[in-house]
Amino acid sequence: MEDPTLMYLGIDLGTSGIKAVLVDQHQNVIAAHTEKLTVSRPHPGWSEQDPQDWFEATLRALDALRISHPNELADVKGIGLSGQQHGAVLLDEEGAVLRPCLLWNDTRAESECSLFEHRFPLCRQITGNIAMPGFTAPKVMWVARHEPEVFAKVTHVVLPKAWLRFRMTGALIDDMSDASGSLWLDTERRLWSDAALEASNLRLASMPELREGTEPAGTLNADLAARWGMKSAPIFAGGAGDNAAGAVGLGAIHTGDAFLSLGTSGVVWVTTDSFHPGGNHAIHSFCHAVPNQWHQMGVTLSAAASLAWWSRVTGLDEKTLLAELPETPEAPSPVLFAPYLSGERTPHNDATVRGGFVGLTQDTTRAQMTQAVLEGVAFSFRDAVEGLAESGTIITQADVIGGGSRSPLWTSIIASVLGITLHRLANGEQGGAFGAARLARIAVTGEGVSAICLPPARVASIAPDERLTGPYRQAYARYRALYPALKSLR
Ligand code: XUL
Repeated sequence: MEDPTLMYLGIDLGTSGIKAVLVDQHQNVIAAHTEKLTVSRPHPGWSEQDPQDWFEATLRALDALRISHPNELADVKGIGLSGQQHGAVLLDEEGAVLRPCLLWNDTRAESECSLFEHRFPLCRQITGNIAMPGFTAPKVMWVARHEPEVFAKVTHVVLPKAWLRFRMTGALIDDMSDASGSLWLDTERRLWSDAALEASNLRLASMPELREGTEPAGTLNADLAARWGMKSAPIFAGGAGDNAAGAVGLGAIHTGDAFLSLGTSGVVWVTTDSFHPGGNHAIHSFCHAVPNQWHQMGVTLSAAASLAWWSRVTGLDEKTLLAELPETPEAPSPVLFAPYLSGERTPHNDATVRGGFVGLTQDTTRAQMTQAVLEGVAFSFRDAVEGLAESGTIITQADVIGGGSRSPLWTSIIASVLGITLHRLANGEQGGAFGAARLARIAVTGEGVSAICLPPARVASIAPDERLTGPYRQAYARYRALYPALKSLR
């Protein structure tokens, strides 16, 4: 029987904002509210946020929903969290935050990566990943080395969304997909690895409890439930790292399901039904947020962030910059752009390489440079697709999501550079928050994952432009030559 009073809330703790969505039992998003967040960069390569800002932004977002949709918010039965991955939130024995969170795109912990792998030689086999500065373990080792007085007080280390759950429920719990990005998880067995923890001078007791993304994991504090007028305190689902939550929202839960996310960072995702340790080409190998599934992923650090940077530099908004370009390019830009503004993960795992424009002349126009930025990001996606192919995972088509995919031009450039068809989706913009709300529903009702995590309708399919695939193949070969050159210029 249908019960109109079943509502679910998904909260995505992103880097640029907290997004909360209210979803009804027909899986319609009936309200969404976003509160902005800022990133602090106290030194080159550092990237931090104060967890208290996440909590306050969450309060503001839910307070806004309380005003716009009081009755629906009152009926919320389950809450799912999706979170930016890898950040290190350090807590003392009182549960207080010891220092700002070192975020996923903070690259200061490069030398700690080799130390970690030296102390934990089975890192790649057990975690499935090479140690990269973006991941949590090297960050905590950096704190131990450079801020020993802080490290001495560390009682717990949690990822961003686990901290938000702690603040909202009092429970120290996290899910498998997010835990995979810490380098402390035995990714195949889905449990913390003592050897990995020891390598960073931590213990099992420093870690939150583990749950599947679909399992119950905490109950909202009574004072918050009362503040938002909820009839009963909703339970939390384990939730997911933002990419896994996005996958749940897209129904990418079956082996071979692939999508590209064109957000601040760029992600190429493939679902797998077994553990495929990555390693080479910095392909990530993580648990999925649903039981018995895993995924592989390539991550380029500055995707939509590259266009945002170019917009800041030119002083023109992104729409204006894109409007200077033709609907479809006639040829690749004569300018090449390497999007290594924050270093790069896949395939180079290089925190200190920097980006560049190459091929400028007296005749170079702003439009050619904008096109080069779009193409540079497309080439970095191709690097990820090639890395996956070398690990045995071939992508023949993919969905495309994320803010950047709103540009038909950018999407079609990526399709031509990759030589595969990309599908745009109805409601492809909901992202992790919607997937998190699905996890909340499964945690509350115990319904089957496949029954709830259906794919949204495809609204357009963008095939590669045959005129451009050959020229882009050549341009990609030139792009590949940029990395060694830029690396040698450090
Ligand atoms: C994934 C990653 C990013 C962040 C962005 O490994 O670092 O996609 O999760 O929020």
